[in-house]
Amino acid sequence: MFRTKVDFLQRFIRCKHTSGRPFCSRLVLGIETSCDETGAAVLDETGSILGECLHSQKEEHLRTGGIIPTVAQQLHRDNIERVVWETLEKSGVTPSQLSAVATTVKPGLALSLSVGLEFSLRFVRQHNRLFIPIHHMEAHALTVRMLHPLFFPFLVLLVSGGHSLLAVAQGVDDFLLLGHALDEAPGDTLDKVARRLSLSKHPQCCTLSGGQAIELLAKDGDRKRFYFTTPMGKTPDCCFSFAGLRNQITMTIKKKEAEEGVGEGTLLSCVNDLAAAAQHTVASHLAERTHRAILFCKANSLLPADNPTLVVSGGVASNRYIRKVLAIITEWTGLSLLCPPGKLCTDNGVMVAWNGVERLREGRGILLPNQDVRYEPKAPLGVDISAEVRAAAIRLPRVRMKIQNNI
Ligand code: KG4
Ligand code: ZN
Repeated sequence: MFRTKVDFLQRFIRCKHTSGRPFCSRLVLGIETSCDETGAAVLDETGSILGECLHSQKEEHLRTGGIIPTVAQQLHRDNIERVVWETLEKSGVTPSQLSAVATTVKPGLALSLSVGLEFSLRFVRQHNRLFIPIHHMEAHALTVRMLHPLFFPFLVLLVSGGHSLLAVAQGVDDFLLLGHALDEAPGDTLDKVARRLSLSKHPQCCTLSGGQAIELLAKDGDRKRFYFTTPMGKTPDCCFSFAGLRNQITMTIKKKEAEEGVGEGTLLSCVNDLAAAAQHTVASHLAERTHRAILFCKANSLLPADNPTLVVSGGVASNRYIRKVLAIITEWTGLSLLCPPGKLCTDNGVMVAWNGVERLREGRGILLPNQDVRYEPKAPLGVDISAEVRAAAIRLPRVRMKIQNNI
């Protein structure tokens, strides 16, 4: 038994230096339940995935037309035990072989976060393991370092169903927030548009999330058939707004329903074109904000002169059209673009375990099993300098976007 936190940490530092296998000995179990995925994974310090398991609630929520927090909570409760033990079994690891358990505790749905946290605290207390509370967006931001040798600082765009933000990652737990969502997140907008278009009734889309359905249908659509204005194109900052776009799309859907003589709930004939136009407008807004963030970073020397990099992650980052548009911006401004593979962009236990590994290596935010931890549904990432970015009022040069839908 360890008497103090210092005892605990010293023991790990000793292990690291005496085993002769500095990175093989420490294993982290990651647990994710912040929204609608129950995920777990065991990683070693090199980022090798020993085992993982993911239960997605997507199908249940598609049936009810959106996430009902109490339903999400019950589904996490029904699955967490199995997901974690299956992960340990696949990994061939017993709880006593783990160095730490890392769990998402912020931000997210309160009822969902509570299940992961309560399970994890019981687990670390029962097995006397270290506990590492994880910020969900920090985990999305760092995942890329599991796959690429990327040094700090780098620029990161995180876009998902609950968030959109631009930040400079300066260290494992050191972020400068350049811009954030002012209303809804892009994934949320795409999910709501997909729902309004009744895409779950489309034979190709019935098992897909809203964003995935829009991407698939957009491939066969003509984005120029509808014109939606880029949200807040005139505000010279890096914040995001998608509620106005959703409003424009809803008005257009209503108009088309009237023209085709159908009501809500019927698939429109122009659904592919609407999907393509919606996807393009989301991509353009993300690209414009990202372009300004890059210029702000350059003006303030926030990125290295040698190989400055933009990392894009979060569920929406698995969209290939959006990646392509962002690639045009990075090419134009001389940055490298890195995106984790789609499977690691959406929520999963691997990214949380990796965040745990990063924090364990740095000795940051590591708690003893009996320490008290609370979940936080709302938790900004890093130090907010978005007002400074707005004050800089950076105007953008025009970038020509010649891009096909079906990429
Ligand atoms: O990161 P994530 O798994 O969960 C949150 O933290 O929100 O992201 C899920 C979101 C959903 O809104 C989903 O519609 C969106 O990511 N998404 C996509 C795509 N795949 C998932 N959006 C656009 N294109 C995709 N291919
Ligand atoms: Zn996420």
